[in-house]
Amino acid sequence: MKKLLIVGGGGIGRKHIDGFIRTEKFLVSVCEVDQNKIQQLTKDYSFEYTFSNFDTVDLSRFDAVLIATPANYHIPMAKKCVLAGKPFLIEKPLAVDLEGVDELIRMVKEKQIPCGVAYTRRSVPSYKQIKELVDSGVIGEVKMANFYCAQDYRKYRPDYSQIYFAKKEMGGGILRDFITHMIDLAQWFIGRPEKGYGLRANLVFGDAIETDDSAIVIGQFSGKLVNFYCNGFQKPNEFTIDIAGTKGNLKYVFVTRSLSKILFADNDSGQWKELCSFTDEAQNYYYFQAENFHCLLENRPHNFTTIEEASENLRFVLDVIKSSDF
Ligand SMILES: NC(=O)c1ccc[n+]([C@@H]2O[C@H](COP(=O)([O-])OP(=O)(O)OC[C@H]3O[C@@H](n4cnc5c(N)ncnc54)[C@H](O)[C@@H]3O)[C@@H](O)[C@H]2O)c1
Repeated sequence: MKKLLIVGGGGIGRKHIDGFIRTEKFLVSVCEVDQNKIQQLTKDYSFEYTFSNFDTVDLSRFDAVLIATPANYHIPMAKKCVLAGKPFLIEKPLAVDLEGVDELIRMVKEKQIPCGVAYTRRSVPSYKQIKELVDSGVIGEVKMANFYCAQDYRKYRPDYSQIYFAKKEMGGGILRDFITHMIDLAQWFIGRPEKGYGLRANLVFGDAIETDDSAIVIGQFSGKLVNFYCNGFQKPNEFTIDIAGTKGNLKYVFVTRSLSKILFADNDSGQWKELCSFTDEAQNYYYFQAENFHCLLENRPHNFTTIEEASENLRFVLDVIKSSDF
């Protein structure tokens, strides 16, 4: 059993706790500043240790650390892990600005610490399948892509106005919180994020948040053109990816939370061939990611976004922010 410390027992920390415990490969401890949350968590799960102050935790007790606090805490917490020589996984996004990012990259390289950034979809079978199909050349050379992702975020996070999502300095809003996931996928499927421009707005959420609830972004990834459309207010929960290559197209469709499909077309008949379908993935995202992290710790192949990749993602997001006068 690996001894894992999860820092941050909020919305996503709880999902990680569940995912890691389900693997039966981790003995989990949690560090959370909010005593009420610790009390609730200890009712629902059994932990090796609980802590309330990360600064004073002796990391030599653990094999690895998962940082699941809001993004403004990620860099200093990751530095503490590197200094203690502990492998770590950081929730996305890497940070809210570039302060300390290059230093973290340098420290990780120097000390050769295994680590990654938790862009969840890289651990999920359907997205791994898209990556394999793109790399197989079935659609030829990829030239363009479109990511369409929207849902009623308020339904899934009723506390949205109380958490990091509502705050600029904590990495909130649709661009920093949602589109960063799509940027990660575009980077994985297509290439390096080079230039990005966008428009952002608060169209529906009003005074409940100081961030954006809607955005459209265009970007260049290794010379290829990519479009992102995203909002957090619409009623249908939709996620579609279109990838256009020189020999055909792939289409990923999130049909429901329990069904997604990958389609293929290489002619104009209007018929899309279903290549594969996936059931019940959404309930298992954090279990898949925990298994992937176990691979990282065991020095086996894994798919985690590297710190360098996540820093390019962040630079792209900051460029989009500069270009959009929201
Ligand atoms: N992968 C995904 O799909 C996904 C989904 C949601 C959130 N996230 C990311 O996860 C991170 C956390 O998001 P969340 O939804 O859990 O937020 P949240 O506000 O629900 O939880 C964050 C928790 O961290 C705790 N915390 C803050 N400072 C702390 C400290 N110094 N030590 C210990 N605990 C501390 C807070 O008390 C809170 O309980 C963010 O970076 C967010 O972008 C990722």
